[in-house]
Amino acid sequence: MMEYHLPVLLKESVDGLNIKPNGIYVDVTFGGGGHSREILKRLEGGKLVGFDQDEEAMANVPNDERFVFVRHNFRFLKNFLKYHGIEQIDGLLADLGVSSHHFDSPHRGFSFRFDAQLDMRMNRHSEITAAHLVNCYTADELTRIFRVYGELKNAAKVAHLLVEHRTKASLQTVGDLQEALRKVTPRWGDHQFYAQVFQALRIEVNHEIDYLRSMLTQATEILAPGGRLSIISYHSLEDRVVKNFFRTGSFDTGSTETDLFGNILRPLTPVNNKVIVPDQKELELNNRARSARLRIAEKQEHGEYDRAG
Ligand SMILES: C[S@@+](CC[C@H](N)C(=O)[O-])C[C@H]1O[C@@H](n2cnc3c(N)ncnc32)[C@H](O)[C@@H]1O
Repeated sequence: MMEYHLPVLLKESVDGLNIKPNGIYVDVTFGGGGHSREILKRLEGGKLVGFDQDEEAMANVPNDERFVFVRHNFRFLKNFLKYHGIEQIDGLLADLGVSSHHFDSPHRGFSFRFDAQLDMRMNRHSEITAAHLVNCYTADELTRIFRVYGELKNAAKVAHLLVEHRTKASLQTVGDLQEALRKVTPRWGDHQFYAQVFQALRIEVNHEIDYLRSMLTQATEILAPGGRLSIISYHSLEDRVVKNFFRTGSFDTGSTETDLFGNILRPLTPVNNKVIVPDQKELELNNRARSARLRIAEKQEHGEYDRAG
């Protein structure tokens, strides 16, 4: 059987949580459960709550009375924890994006390796699919997502080709999309191009940036003093969101709260100033780890805010 997902930066991210054996922890991206199993190994009593919006992840739930699984989006973090009687946590781990299982499942439409329906929903109960975006978004909206989420230099051209193509036939499958983009697909480097197009659509379908912001805000509110956030991202925009939030307490670099003396007030302190990336050994074993970036931050021990700067 194909492996569900090989956990990335496993030791570094779980070490980053500085686990208290009796603490309460959350893994908001349970997936194949690799990080969760490592957290459980380090707990003596304690509790771990695992979130995943994809019901297929439920097949990996460990048989462990300290573990609770929540099959929902992590944007509902506080609500579901409250439902389980948890108001404060000692640490939270997020390993963002999709799992290898998603890329390797032809029917989910996440990969350009298979000619499937353009789906790309992590939660198959949600309504908007990638097919909806390419058939219904305006050229301007498509340009924005290809530029911002796909970092494509020719985003407008790509968007206009899709809009032109769909006046003749709707775009339903991976093959339809590839056909529509034939004119702009590089002969060499087509994998990179498709990867950027697919990444852009996937981030929009799953509202990945908005939900990340919401989760980080809620996590910081319920984190105990001295508690840690350990976040692995795979896209420069995601990483920037995490970095700015850890450094300034804001998602917008220009906006920070300051005290009377002009010191920046922030609820978290970054533990690693330099981003942590996989070492050569991990990259040799797992090509999918190549874009991973880990950042760790700690909630202030005293008072509500740390003063930085
Ligand atoms: C990179 S995988 C995590 C893999 C996991 N750390 C492991 O070791 O197996 C990301 C997982 O998070 C889930 N996910 C992504 N965004 C989510 C969200 N907003 N809410 C809940 N689950 C999410 C995906 O369905 C996927 O299973």
